[in-house]
Amino acid sequence: MKILLSADDIQRRVAEMARQIADDYRGQPVTIVGVLTGCLMFLADIVRHLDLPLRIALLQASSYRGEATAPGELRIQAERLPDLRGRHVLLLDDILDTGQTLAELRVYLRNLGVASLRVGVLLRKEGRQKTPVEVDYCGFDIPDAFVVGYGLDFNDEYRHLPYIAILNR
Ligand code: XMP
Repeated sequence: MKILLSADDIQRRVAEMARQIADDYRGQPVTIVGVLTGCLMFLADIVRHLDLPLRIALLQASSYRGEATAPGELRIQAERLPDLRGRHVLLLDDILDTGQTLAELRVYLRNLGVASLRVGVLLRKEGRQKTPVEVDYCGFDIPDAFVVGYGLDFNDEYRHLPYIAILNR
């Protein structure tokens, strides 16, 4: 597989993003809401750079099945979310592709009565967004290719790789 972003590239950028997030929140308590399963590595790495009063919560959103490249209906499983009313929430996802997932999650979280909502993604695919989603923090803009590693999977494989690679199909 062709490596698109090395482990060093990712670690450097994640640390930069964390600095920007810490500057923006200026010591305010933040609840990070990660989107499973792809956010695992990104979330785990970024929070270790964040010197803020922090809570971590997780939800699952799935629309992709295996190799599918077009989104289906989004299923949100949020049973394990704490009460987010009045909290400053930072939603973290692995990749912004068509935008459907983050657009729907944004509405979902706003309806829970959060005090503020920002969105951070590690990757944003160029030329793929169908639902416009403004993100507050973006690690890398990448070409339109199917990528795996650093949390991203193909049939639940490759998530453990410390780098991001283009999957050969
Ligand atoms: P949307 O289209 O809703 O998609 O923005 C976001 C979700 O789609 C998955 N996705 C990928 N997963 N490699 C992956 O492993 C990819 O290249 C890719 N593109 C989209 C991912 O779950 C993301 O949260």
